[in-house]
Amino acid sequence: MKNRGVWNLVTCFTVTLVFMQCYCSADGVVTCSGIVPMVYRSDKISITDFGAVGDGKTLNTKAFREAIYRIEHLKRRGGTLLYIPPGDYLTESFNLTSRMTLYLAKGAVIKATQDTSNWPLIAPLPSYGRGRERPGGRYMSFIHGDGLHDVIITGENGTIDGQGDVWWNMWRQRTLQFTRPNLVELKDSRGIIISNVIFKNSPFWNIHPVYCSNVVIRYVTILAPPSSPNTDGIDPDSSTHVCIEDSYISTGDDLIAVKSGWDEYGIAYGRPSNDITIRRITGSSPFAGIAVGSETSGGVTNILAEHITLTNTGIGIHLKTNIGRGGIIRNITVSDVFMENVRKGIKISGDVGDHPDENYNPNALPVMKHVRIKNVWGEKVQQAGLIKGLKNSPFTDICLANIHLMGSSGSRNVPWTCSDVRGGAVQVSPSPCSELISQSQTSVCSIPF
Ligand SMILES: *[C@@H]1O[C@H](CO)[C@@H](O)[C@H](O)[C@H]1NC(C)=O
Ligand SMILES: *[C@@H]1O[C@H](CO)[C@@H](O)[C@H](O)[C@H]1NC(C)=O
Ligand SMILES: *[C@@H]1O[C@H](CO)[C@@H](O)[C@H](O)[C@H]1NC(C)=O
Repeated sequence: MKNRGVWNLVTCFTVTLVFMQCYCSADGVVTCSGIVPMVYRSDKISITDFGAVGDGKTLNTKAFREAIYRIEHLKRRGGTLLYIPPGDYLTESFNLTSRMTLYLAKGAVIKATQDTSNWPLIAPLPSYGRGRERPGGRYMSFIHGDGLHDVIITGENGTIDGQGDVWWNMWRQRTLQFTRPNLVELKDSRGIIISNVIFKNSPFWNIHPVYCSNVVIRYVTILAPPSSPNTDGIDPDSSTHVCIEDSYISTGDDLIAVKSGWDEYGIAYGRPSNDITIRRITGSSPFAGIAVGSETSGGVTNILAEHITLTNTGIGIHLKTNIGRGGIIRNITVSDVFMENVRKGIKISGDVGDHPDENYNPNALPVMKHVRIKNVWGEKVQQAGLIKGLKNSPFTDICLANIHLMGSSGSRNVPWTCSDVRGGAVQVSPSPCSELISQSQTSVCSIPF
């Protein structure tokens, strides 16, 4: 054990030196610490100083907006911590400001109102051109930040509760006028830490950093029923230097999906998602565990996802794009994944996702290359893998190594199916498609494993 600790430290420092992206704790475990400095705030205020009542009934919108107005305008040296004591604080949506910590004590719940009639509308994201599910603007996120720096949401595992069922029902009954609100969105912001918070029943996506850099999300728990529509866990979108680790996510849609804009709007806006690390994530989803896409029009490069544990999940690893998207998906590494009871182990597809409108360019073909998937162990996997490239833009340098995906006991699973893909495979069972195996001798994998 002692030797292993030393070895971990050596590997860890080597990784840090080479990539300048990782940091090590005392026992040599690579972590996100250091990507964004944790800031101590000597100025502290409590939401109750602004008249908030944590009885679950009183609407506390004014208290939240006044407290944050005070933080924004008094500009205390080193920023201000806003303390949320134990209790249920019902509120409408509110905006954060720079140099603040939103601190939820143990037993603190910030609860979204279910009265959706006055929910503020904001402009669509330029890289989407419209709301993701309805044309036009979109409802502002429950907790929103735009153009900020140095924002921390943390505490003692208090809860941010979106009470999303009213929104899910509007979606089911097709009565939604605009795109549903995310639980937390930070747009055009940098220096963000979200840690030690429970996110519950988001109306739509849970945590959405968009056009952001230097974002750390760790020790979070994200929960929504498997039947809740589009409740993605964490969607880094056109963002760079994002680190997500040590979290449990169980929702009704993809647990983590890296995105970068939608068809002609995303291509025109041209903001990629780069340098994203995802590690030590556990969870379950009726859709994907770890996903890239399907909105990837700005491009997605340098993604590392490792030490992922998935149970009762639709698709373990899903890289997805479509014609009209454009964008390059490149240098994606997924390693050390355990999955159990999943429909499909690995899926890489060029025909997934809808279009914003009829004006997408069918000749804007995405590029998918340099994908490494290794050290994957699966049990009760219905189909091991499915790769569907594009005839006029085949996926290239797709390399698989040490992947074992078993069916249920006694029954063999559905074999791999592939088209329009080139790459290699080493020690993969069941044996993948001939496009990959026949190449494996010739070291087509340009970057070694
Ligand atoms: C919150 O931010 C949004 C988007 O930046 C803005 O449109 C809105 O006016 C802000 N609301 C308040 C109460 O400041
Ligand atoms: C909060 O949750 C995290 C992640 O689940 C856990 O590691 C941590 O010990 C918890 N902290 C407290 C104060 O309960
Ligand atoms: C590929 O991505 C990894 C992160 O997963 C990064 O460390 C590495 O430098 C990238 N390689 C190239 C050639 O850009």
